[in-house]
Amino acid sequence: AETHYQEFVVQAEPVTRLCKTHNIITVNGQFPGPILTVRNGDTLIIKVLNRARYNVTLHWHGIRQMRTPWADGPEYVTQCPIQPGGTYTYRFTIENQEGTLWWHAHSRWLRATVYGALVILPKQGFTYPFANPKLEVPIVLGEWWNRDIFSVMGQALFTGAAPNVSDAYTINGQPGDLYKCSSQGTFKVSVNSGDTVLLRVINAALNQQLFFTVANHQLTVVGADATYHKPFTTRVIMVGPGQTTDVLLTANQPTGRYYMAASAYATGQNAPFDNTTTTAILEYTNCRTRPVLPQLPAFNDTATTTAFTSQLRSIPSNDAKVPTQIDDSLFFTVGLGFVNCNPGPTCQGPNNTRFAASMNNESFVLPRRTSLLQAYYQNIPGIYTLDFPPVPPVQFNYTGNVPRSLWQPNFGTKLYKLKFGSNVQIVLQDTGIFSTEDHPIHLHGYHFFVVGQGFGNFNPQTDTAKFNLVDPPVRNTIDVPVGGWAVIRFVADNPGVWLFHCHIDSHLMWGLAMSFIVENGEGELQTIEPPPADLPRC
Ligand code: C2O
Repeated sequence: AETHYQEFVVQAEPVTRLCKTHNIITVNGQFPGPILTVRNGDTLIIKVLNRARYNVTLHWHGIRQMRTPWADGPEYVTQCPIQPGGTYTYRFTIENQEGTLWWHAHSRWLRATVYGALVILPKQGFTYPFANPKLEVPIVLGEWWNRDIFSVMGQALFTGAAPNVSDAYTINGQPGDLYKCSSQGTFKVSVNSGDTVLLRVINAALNQQLFFTVANHQLTVVGADATYHKPFTTRVIMVGPGQTTDVLLTANQPTGRYYMAASAYATGQNAPFDNTTTTAILEYTNCRTRPVLPQLPAFNDTATTTAFTSQLRSIPSNDAKVPTQIDDSLFFTVGLGFVNCNPGPTCQGPNNTRFAASMNNESFVLPRRTSLLQAYYQNIPGIYTLDFPPVPPVQFNYTGNVPRSLWQPNFGTKLYKLKFGSNVQIVLQDTGIFSTEDHPIHLHGYHFFVVGQGFGNFNPQTDTAKFNLVDPPVRNTIDVPVGGWAVIRFVADNPGVWLFHCHIDSHLMWGLAMSFIVENGEGELQTIEPPPADLPRC
């Protein structure tokens, strides 16, 4: 195994898109940021120098960080932010993960522009469980705002309205030539007839689930969230914010140019969406014809999403079996609600309210004095409490008409403690408090089995009987179906403090999050490593 040293300089840089130039925060002046390509088993040592005007942290999305929670990155959860002028070195080793992940800022909305692909190849001398592709290309889906991202965020935070939709979706930082002023930079993939390409599709968008497709070509899904899955073919994939999907594409169509395209999948009347499409071009050698446009599903095409996700199956392995006995059975509602605005002239919710979001009616508040992990590790009192409710305080018809008394969540920093090695099940139940909506829920420090999902209210009897305990998908982010539920299982074998949250940044900002403490086990291999000497202070 190798050790990779990198320097990531976080700095403002003028970038032009859609005929508008403004300063955005970048890493090493690049947008999107650098692609990290490593092998399973390698160690990464990434020194971050913050030359921007804002606090920043970086998160290695989906990396399990076994015993190294200090390198995970969410601000005020596993570390205090790196202040302007400061540095911090992230050190971690990749243990048994292969495929596509990504890295992004985990500090307010900085990840709008601070992100990049993280490609994990098999160990030296090992191969993919599929024929070696001719070419491998990360396809990072994102969003572009003509405005400063903090003003977009501030608007959503303080007026309580949904955030402005972005001005464009992007592929590898480029809107593509269906948008104005964008034909120059449109991302291209050149192929020879007959070649097979591995597209590593990453959804780095802030607030949007996306469909992705390539005109006239089939996609063969082979992986998701850095886990190989059983191959199946499809015309279109749906990728939730935070998720990745690896697909093979064979250039078996008449020589020509074909658009790859992504557009919004938004559910619920009130979810912000637009109907614009970002494109890149799949170009057969020396071909200059007009690109063929693909058909994309409509923004509310839940049937296509369901058809896609229901085909995803992992490849069963002996060292990671689906837990069958459950030690800790949890039930979390996920959804939006409202809180009263205390004298709020601009609160745009009904009756002078603003949005809040919660799990089990608890809206998560980050500490400011220190991080949760430091507070836990050093026994600092008064930073958090351990009373996060394992089940909703009241039962109700979650996806039906929800009584007004349930609209107002509590605010707090409530954590839930898991015993080392325990088998955990979490039912994630969408609610109809404001509108039913898809929520891409991400667990730090883990990947998990998705043993079931469906629509309506979860029914413990009938739905449990239908769980897939043989080859369920393995993910680090689960898109809980609109007006429905998903059930995940994992073994709590990675000690630390781990954020569990909606990967739609506006929902995260409104409090759709909580954190787990996973206690140490016995012996060195089950115990959190000591904090690095350069861990930033608050
Ligand atoms: Cu990709 Cu907590 O994040």
